[in-house]
Amino acid sequence: MMYSFNMKTRVIRLHMVGAGGEDLAALREAGALIRRGALVAFPTETVYGLGANAFDAEAAAKIYAAKGRPSDNPLIVHIGRMEDLPLVVEGGIGTCARILMARFWPGPLTLIFPKNPQVPDATTGGLATVAVRFPANEIARRLILEAGVPIAAPSANTSGRPSPTTVAHVIEDLDGKIDMILDGGEVGIGLESTIVDLTGDRPVLLRPGAVTAEMLEEALRGALYPDTGSPGTESLGLHPKAPGMKYRHYAPRAQMYVVEECADIPGLARSAAESGKRVGVLCTEETAGEIDKTCGGGFGTQSPNRLDRCMGKCIVKCIGKRADLSTVAAGLFGALRDLDHLGVDVIYAESYPREGIGLAIMNRLVKAAGGNVISGKAGERM
Ligand code: TXA
Ligand code: MG
Repeated sequence: MMYSFNMKTRVIRLHMVGAGGEDLAALREAGALIRRGALVAFPTETVYGLGANAFDAEAAAKIYAAKGRPSDNPLIVHIGRMEDLPLVVEGGIGTCARILMARFWPGPLTLIFPKNPQVPDATTGGLATVAVRFPANEIARRLILEAGVPIAAPSANTSGRPSPTTVAHVIEDLDGKIDMILDGGEVGIGLESTIVDLTGDRPVLLRPGAVTAEMLEEALRGALYPDTGSPGTESLGLHPKAPGMKYRHYAPRAQMYVVEECADIPGLARSAAESGKRVGVLCTEETAGEIDKTCGGGFGTQSPNRLDRCMGKCIVKCIGKRADLSTVAAGLFGALRDLDHLGVDVIYAESYPREGIGLAIMNRLVKAAGGNVISGKAGERM
């Protein structure tokens, strides 16, 4: 089916301070658009989503077309209240599901259940299961309730690009391809939701996120299988159960490497720059100074969160603080897009402990790097 990709995309700024009349009118209009089969991008607490009526197969097809997404990669269905779960899920809700929903919904956790036949195959990429999320973001929740139907929404980016954390990112990828964008400002978390599969005998973590493996394990008291969504599982030949995890993702145009020993980054950056490459470095406030010292020049005033510095052919992007990894999570995807705009040839990214939100950060970094990890002083590649 062909779709027009030169439509006018309306961008509406929402303030949500006490949800005034203008906001309510916009949400009502956006909800009606969704119900009628249109595409509306909206903020959530994780990343911006590209929403369509989850019960409308043709609307789901439009999502795949607008994103250039492979049609076997299923969409997450978003509900606006707990009571709507039976609309999309088949059968009873088990104990683990009850525990996780009570503890983490609404919030950045997606759960996989057997699919209710009401949800068309187009929404779930032909799977007999459905991914369900109840977002905490106020605009997202109200939009779903106004639409009066669950909303199928992948991240609102072109397939393979970093997920959008601002409206500018959504416009960059989808302007002219969708009907409306609700602008709720910058998202809070910056990485997509944690995904847990509840359709087997025990829960399985498919994609790490802000609801961390430690939080899940604590809630489920050890009933969770070891993480299969973590970096490296693809190279072990395991079949990823979240179909989307098998594609190269979040990918900047540059060749990217995750560097296990942060201390090696200045040397790697310098020799790449000396060989004529334009180099981007993704680092943190704690390491930026050391990199700067080796690559030349001193930093000027240090902004608390983003510290960019161009040293000849080396662009150093400070994406957050090691001491508070939630700032790194929030800054990561925007930084990858920025480096793309700067046209760097190679990116060296600092690595993080694979615990707490660090596991999700490393998962996205290693995916963006297409699995390129430089470990140890020898610079050997895994
Ligand atoms: O935070 C988020 O989850 C964002 C916001 C918009 O809610 N959405 C998001 O959607 O990240 P998307 O489409 O970019 O990622 C959905 C992931 C994909 O890896 C997909 O393969 C997996 O969820 N998934 C969806 N349905 C599934 C199912 N039935 N079984 C296994 N994996 C599933
Ligand atoms: Mg996505």
